[in-house]
Amino acid sequence: MDSNFNGKKMDRALLKKQSTDNAVEEIKNRLDIIETVSEHIVLKKSGRNYWGLCPFHKEKTPSFSVNAEKGIYKCFGCGEGGDSISFLMKVNNTSFWETMVMLAQKFNIELPEAGVTSESSEYKKQILEINKYAAEFYKKMLLENKEAKNYLLKRGINETIIEEFSLGFAPVSADELIKKYDKDILQKIGLLSFKNRIIIPIQDEKGNFIAFGARAMADSQGPKYLNSPESPVFNKSRSLFGLYQAKDSIKELDSVILMEGYFDVISAHSHGLANVVATLGTALTEQHIRIVARYSESRRIYLAFDSDEAGVNATNRGAEIIKSAFSGLGEIRHFDENFADSTVKQDRTACEIRVITTNTGKDPDEFLREHGAEAYKELINSAPLLIDYQINRIINLNEKISSPQDKAKLGKEVIPLLSEIRNSIIRNEYIKLVAGRLSIDEESLNIEVRKNLQKVTYPQANKNGLLFKNQEEKYVLAQKNLLSLYFLNNEKFAPLCINNYIKEVELSDTHLNLIKKHIDEIIDEFNDSDKLFKELLNKLAENEEAKKVLTDLIYRVEDKKDLNFELLEQYLTDHILYLKTYQVSERQKQLRASYYADNNDDTSSELHQQKVKELISERRL
Ligand code: GTP
Ligand code: MN
Repeated sequence: MDSNFNGKKMDRALLKKQSTDNAVEEIKNRLDIIETVSEHIVLKKSGRNYWGLCPFHKEKTPSFSVNAEKGIYKCFGCGEGGDSISFLMKVNNTSFWETMVMLAQKFNIELPEAGVTSESSEYKKQILEINKYAAEFYKKMLLENKEAKNYLLKRGINETIIEEFSLGFAPVSADELIKKYDKDILQKIGLLSFKNRIIIPIQDEKGNFIAFGARAMADSQGPKYLNSPESPVFNKSRSLFGLYQAKDSIKELDSVILMEGYFDVISAHSHGLANVVATLGTALTEQHIRIVARYSESRRIYLAFDSDEAGVNATNRGAEIIKSAFSGLGEIRHFDENFADSTVKQDRTACEIRVITTNTGKDPDEFLREHGAEAYKELINSAPLLIDYQINRIINLNEKISSPQDKAKLGKEVIPLLSEIRNSIIRNEYIKLVAGRLSIDEESLNIEVRKNLQKVTYPQANKNGLLFKNQEEKYVLAQKNLLSLYFLNNEKFAPLCINNYIKEVELSDTHLNLIKKHIDEIIDEFNDSDKLFKELLNKLAENEEAKKVLTDLIYRVEDKKDLNFELLEQYLTDHILYLKTYQVSERQKQLRASYYADNNDDTSSELHQQKVKELISERRL
């Protein structure tokens, strides 16, 4: 055997391992817990942490908490917890390495040791590559086609916007694409059906070309729009047209306008309104809402659907979807500044829904081109809150109606809207308003609304471990509380200091024992709470159960951070005393049990008692 050859092989293996370690490290660094979790549930900041509805068990009140600073999450309802990787493993039902492979692809990081990448992700990559090439091709074709250029010009779309949205033109022949790529795949992703159409690429949040919309230029050419079919990279219910171009503006203005059509969004951009996105000819979904919620912190959502009947229905349905996406996170905003009072805290509102209507029956694109940006901005600024919009629609539409039956009927339609308002002051204001407009008895309306009031609970930061099922649970909890003190981040109680107190304590829980073992190994090097925590997460990277316990410790330490030195010391000594007492009493129990089990006589009973006494004195309790 050639030793030289072997040596080289070893080197290569070692190199591969090192670059894998580096890649894993980089993936971990790139992961952001808020971003990761937000892709699956809506989070709302409350206090130091973010809260949402747990994706791992069914609940109506959020008990799922995310600590952005530490990069961890914990559900106080079902006990799940961990870091971004644990979350992804659990939510996608993947192994550690599958998760790593997925993330490596997402972040475009090489992961040498992960072996072959999965077939489906190869396919995804291929589609994105073809789409990118196609987008370039269509763009080139647009420059060469006068009719297409004119079409866009006529719709008020200039070069800058064409560039920004990568607009293009699909000629009748797709030969250029067929020359380069497999015809079957092109067919499958819809690229062969775009003929003589304006091309509107659909991009994901990172700018990848995931699909295309293709508009006919003449009325005679049907259908008006053709869209790429859904594919591994394109899911309509998760994609929003224009998000890539809108996301910065949504963040900046802290609001998003949802429209119906491609050209509404494009037109809005050419009129200087950038916080605009559209669904892709499908109904709004909760997933859409979760996506935009990531960009607008206060979730100010404007619905700017068409004012025809379909548009009105879409608005009402959309509103329900939005409410459902935010359910449990507080109520939606039901009052304007003139209604504001000190009993309504802004941070209680989960979202704000406003409705923009043109009243002229024109869609935003038509309105903008006819009346200009300022007029549309006026519509935005005066857009009513959803509740006002809905009440107005019910009452205004039926102005002439005056029979008692009709009034009762309208009243009935309004009651569910009124009962959604949880703040009684605001609700009463609305009841007054509606009663006045319908000229019905306010008190009767009030009674009807009360009958309809829904029970609502607000998010609450569940306190740690106040309820114990049994003594043993309390015992394990005390151990957790004690170990949590390693993460106090308190100068006077640095990890090494805590270690001095805790040195002699026995731990009964396997995971706590493992954590403590690791702490002992690294504490000299990491005598800093944050660094110690990070290193422990590394050590436990592939041990989900232990990570869950470690996460729990981090959450547990929160309410101890405000204690002063004396109280902390008291807390430490109390807990240590409690643990020792518990251990002794457990031993006593065991001794007694063994005594009864052996059916021993009195002498041995004394012997046992003696042993117990020794035990107690030895422990100096
Ligand atoms: P323009 O006439 O170009 O201004 O389109 P629009 O956006 O005003 O059209 P409309 O309000 O009729 O449709 C809204 C959205 O529904 C469009 O942007 C498309 O996403 C989708 N859509 C409309 N017509 C069709 C169609 O014929 N086929 C498909 N697949 N989608 C359509
Ligand atoms: Mn239109």
